[in-house]
Amino acid sequence: MTARALMEAAVAAREKAYAPYSGFKVGAALLGKSGKVYTGCNVENAAYTPTNCAERTAVFKAVSEGEREFEAIAIVGGKGELLSPLCAPCGVCRQVLTEFVGKDFKVLLGTPEKITETTLDALLPLSFGKNNLE
Ligand code: THU
Repeated sequence: MTARALMEAAVAAREKAYAPYSGFKVGAALLGKSGKVYTGCNVENAAYTPTNCAERTAVFKAVSEGEREFEAIAIVGGKGELLSPLCAPCGVCRQVLTEFVGKDFKVLLGTPEKITETTLDALLPLSFGKNNLE
């Protein structure tokens, strides 16, 4: 699967965002090592804190369906109908992703037309992981 196709899957997932409070809609597409793509959107809540981000929706969907190894994630976001030039994942989502991914995991940000590729290692250096519990 190309980077652009994964970004386009994130754009399609963003259409499903439930964001009546912030108006900021996010879509994510997580590529499993099996080749399957798990999409997610943000799901807000009137009590605010139960809100789930798009990235975590995708991770939880994947893990709950039995996939635990991933190649890449594409993330897009923006207010209303507009796509921001770049929507970075929040700290909580970085921490959730770090549980399941290796050093080669790619993070694709931006838009399908202008993709910025980075790694989780770059976004969350010196992260706390399972090795810290040994
Ligand atoms: N949001 C995400 O879905 N992913 C992120 O990484 C950043 C923030 C959502 C949460 C909330 O519904 C809205 O964007 C505004 O913060």
